[in-house]
Amino acid sequence: MSEKLNIGVILGSTREGRVSPQVGEWVKGIADKRGDANYEIVDIADYKLPFLGEGDAPGIAAWNEKLASLDGFVFIVQEYNHSITGALKNAIDLAREAWNNKAAGIVSYGSTGGARAAEHLRGILGELMVADVRTHPTLSLFTDFENFSVFKPQNIHDENINLMLDQVTTWSRALKTIRQ
Ligand SMILES: Cc1cc2nc3c(=O)[nH]c(=O)nc-3n(C[C@H](O)[C@H](O)[C@H](O)COP(=O)(O)O)c2cc1C
Repeated sequence: MSEKLNIGVILGSTREGRVSPQVGEWVKGIADKRGDANYEIVDIADYKLPFLGEGDAPGIAAWNEKLASLDGFVFIVQEYNHSITGALKNAIDLAREAWNNKAAGIVSYGSTGGARAAEHLRGILGELMVADVRTHPTLSLFTDFENFSVFKPQNIHDENINLMLDQVTTWSRALKTIRQ
């Protein structure tokens, strides 16, 4: 088998007090046990991205370099007003070629599992030629979190996470062949 894939687990929220780092670390923990790829947390907040068109901060180049180094993505998506966060949309808009011909999975959360946000993200990913996989683990603010702030996932989700990762790695490997 050729060299290991690099898969980024992208945290979609940046607000103070966000729960996305807990969810991202949990996904990475399951992923790391597989040994089939290099998984890393990619935190939008680290890049201090300006809004598109409002300056040329160094974070934009660093963000694009990070995305370019990845073969696939797992988006940690939280539902804000029935869609993805403004921070994630802006970060997506700040790159183009670095997204193209790669695969992605979505893990979402919200009062209805973040399903509406995830479906919006699928439409956006289509425009960027990111192949989003079918299996979509959904986490409930009511049953997978304590007080909506401490992440306590039910065991039933592990299998779905692995299924999603099976699909992301398979498609990431396939798409890598058309980028070379
Ligand atoms: C501005 C805002 C809008 C929200 N809108 C929704 C919503 O439409 N549907 C929903 O299920 N949860 C909604 N929520 C709840 C968030 O999904 C919840 O707070 C979640 O923890 C946010 O993710 P984060 O902690 O990683 O920022 C909203 C939260 C915020 C801050």
